[in-house]
Amino acid sequence: MNNRIFNFNAGPATLPLEVLIEAQAELLNYQQTGMSILEISHRSKPYEDINEEAEANIKELLGLGDDYRVLFLQGGASTQFAMIPMNFLASGQTADYIITGTWSEKALKEAQLIGNTHVAATTAEGNHQRIPTMAEIQLSDQPAYVHITSNNTIFGTQWKEFPEFGKVPLIADMSSDILNRSFHAEKFSMIYAGAQKNLGPAGVTVVIMRKELLANNPKTIPTMMRYETHAKNDSLYNTPPVFSVYMLNLVLRWLKGQGGLSVIGKRNEEKAALIYDTIDQSGGYYRGHAQADSRSLMNVNFRLPTEELEKTFAKEAEQAGLIGLKGHRSVGGLRASMYNAMTVGGCLALKEFMLDFKRKNG
Ligand SMILES: Cc1ncc(COP(=O)(O)O)c(C=O)c1O
Repeated sequence: MNNRIFNFNAGPATLPLEVLIEAQAELLNYQQTGMSILEISHRSKPYEDINEEAEANIKELLGLGDDYRVLFLQGGASTQFAMIPMNFLASGQTADYIITGTWSEKALKEAQLIGNTHVAATTAEGNHQRIPTMAEIQLSDQPAYVHITSNNTIFGTQWKEFPEFGKVPLIADMSSDILNRSFHAEKFSMIYAGAQKNLGPAGVTVVIMRKELLANNPKTIPTMMRYETHAKNDSLYNTPPVFSVYMLNLVLRWLKGQGGLSVIGKRNEEKAALIYDTIDQSGGYYRGHAQADSRSLMNVNFRLPTEELEKTFAKEAEQAGLIGLKGHRSVGGLRASMYNAMTVGGCLALKEFMLDFKRKNG
């Protein structure tokens, strides 16, 4: 029916085939408007319906109520690195960051441009192979907030249980694992994610926020940088990325249709186990980067005995229809990104390829 390959890229990443087919079917004439969704006004009723439904779908999937808002912004997760301290780090306060990889370092760097920061824990020693234990986390005195990266795309580690710090707002960059399993979302004052890994195409950044955080955004920062601006205008203060939000909503409907977060979480466990078990049973031929208790369900990083073999692996995998497996330069080796839309079939194909490659080259 189609000649699609298995796409293990870290993001932009594979999307559910059903979603692509649906978008294709209604591309020329969106719901009898005689226009495509790419051409529609963001002030029109059809778009307002999408905007509203997407917010409701995210809240439903995460089990969140009226005390939360969902915003659809632009500028990627990288813009959130700056907006968070601009809105929530007042002068005289300190913001705490837990450093588990490149992306948390980048978030910290932006906050350092705005105000006082404190590194509450870091796993830099050992090149971010693990998530810190609760005992390692040392908060500053009354932090304005604590920031974590829930899944470290580059290093392939993921928080299994989220920390809790009483009344201190917890903020998470969930760009690479948002909606990957069920979890207690109310622990978080704010969650944000660029859509292009687990939610849809690039272009929209999802921000999920406790309403109480919207109360005191400083009036001195530019209008577009204030969360309150976007909340008051239902993410329609300026022209939103209409097509990206439309696609996001199709992905959210698909996820609900699959059975929601507990079903997708089980499937993601099953998929990750196919690859981690292959690594563990390879007698040291494949070596994982992450420590076993910190392994990510989304990004599996592994090495082969030599860099030469790693290059051959990536090249031959591509010839076999498995693309995007080359690892990030800061870790080296290979990385298989297996977000919600990656099928069990794709992971089985990768497992078979790994076994076969070892038989031929081991
Ligand atoms: C965990 C994490 N945070 C932030 C980013 C940056 O996202 P964006 O490109 O949307 O700014 C990425 C991108 O890979 C990421 O993996």
